Amino acid sequence: MDWFVTTPLGVEDVAAKELEEDVGLQVNIDVGKVFFRAPIKAMYIVNYSARTINRLYLLLARENFNSLEDIYRVAKNIDYTDIITPEKSFAVRCERIGEHGFTSIDIARVVGRAVIDSYMEAHGVKLRVNLDKPDVEINVFVRFNEVLIGVNTTGESLHKRRYRIYNHPAALKTTLAAAMLKLGEYRNQPLLDPLCGGATIPIEAAHMARKYPIVLFRKDYYFTKLPLYDPEIESAVRVRLLESINKNNYDITCVEISPKHFEGALVNIKNALVADTVKVFNRDSTRVETYRDIRAELIVTNPPYGMRSHNLKKISLFYETILRTLREVYSGVRVVLITASTKQLEEVVAKIGITTLHVRKVMHGGLPAKIYVLKL
Ligand SMILES: C[S@@+](CC[C@H](N)C(=O)[O-])C[C@H]1O[C@@H](n2cnc3c(N)ncnc32)[C@H](O)[C@@H]1O
Repeated sequence: MDWFVTTPLGVEDVAAKELEEDVGLQVNIDVGKVFFRAPIKAMYIVNYSARTINRLYLLLARENFNSLEDIYRVAKNIDYTDIITPEKSFAVRCERIGEHGFTSIDIARVVGRAVIDSYMEAHGVKLRVNLDKPDVEINVFVRFNEVLIGVNTTGESLHKRRYRIYNHPAALKTTLAAAMLKLGEYRNQPLLDPLCGGATIPIEAAHMARKYPIVLFRKDYYFTKLPLYDPEIESAVRVRLLESINKNNYDITCVEISPKHFEGALVNIKNALVADTVKVFNRDSTRVETYRDIRAELIVTNPPYGMRSHNLKKISLFYETILRTLREVYSGVRVVLITASTKQLEEVVAKIGITTLHVRKVMHGGLPAKIYVLKL
């Protein structure tokens, strides 16, 4: 069967590596997507354990088109027997990139009609549409002259891990946190996040170290409504993943200055079942004394961006202070950092003479940002 996953923009290769190394798949990378061919078992493994992907889709069609009629034909030619049973409802959702003489709504409408026509011809049944709570969600991705049709097996994006109770106002996406840890080659070495907010990065690290699969916290998946869902295979995959959990203690520390976010971090850490392995301190990360009892061989962090123009001077000074402090304590250690204030960060890095080992563009919360790997 053919599949594709969607990923945060800019970390497609990290997701591809995860699918290759952890799931044993052979993959093809595209923009914001990774394609692969695999038996049905992969649907459960990827949905239950992949940390850097948003959603997994069963690929139904991928073709070039010239007109809306072409898209109708592509959708009409699909056999929906394994996708939807007669009593179930469906919805079509569309994302579109490029200049076209029609909208995403037009595409969704035309594909919806094609699904109904195709099913009617094959089974003599008129499928029901339910736009709010469909049993089956068919997704159409149109990019320039390519149309991609898939079935959402995941449901809501997997970056919603369901362990987060406290929502930090500038929370990092869990999938990006996982990608940053992978870019930093996190292999359970002592880890520090000096600006932890709601503790997304340390929690992801602890889950990676302990092999907590996504399914430990998240139970709602769309694939349960698909005719191809096989509870026996699903249960075998789930049991194997849960059995591979370890309860070892890892050296993971984080720091947060705001008492409110500190309390939020504690709540999240507890709810994510890692309170016995993640330490969190309510301290100021710009002070050397903060680190008197903290070991770190890798630092992964998401500093404030200071997006409003009157804050940008302040953010430059903040970046300079914290990087100087971290270098004083952890000279030679790698820092993986994400920011949208890239100009400020790059000026500071050049000014104080820190080596940049790697840099890449990503999108975070609709903002262009960059992930840096620095050496203190
Ligand atoms: C962008 S947020 C981190 C969000 C976090 N990654 C999450 O997912 O919840 C940056 C955090 O750095 C904290 N911070 C700012 N200055 C600090 C300092 N001097 N020491 C410690 N924390 C600080 C802020 O309070 C804020 O919670």
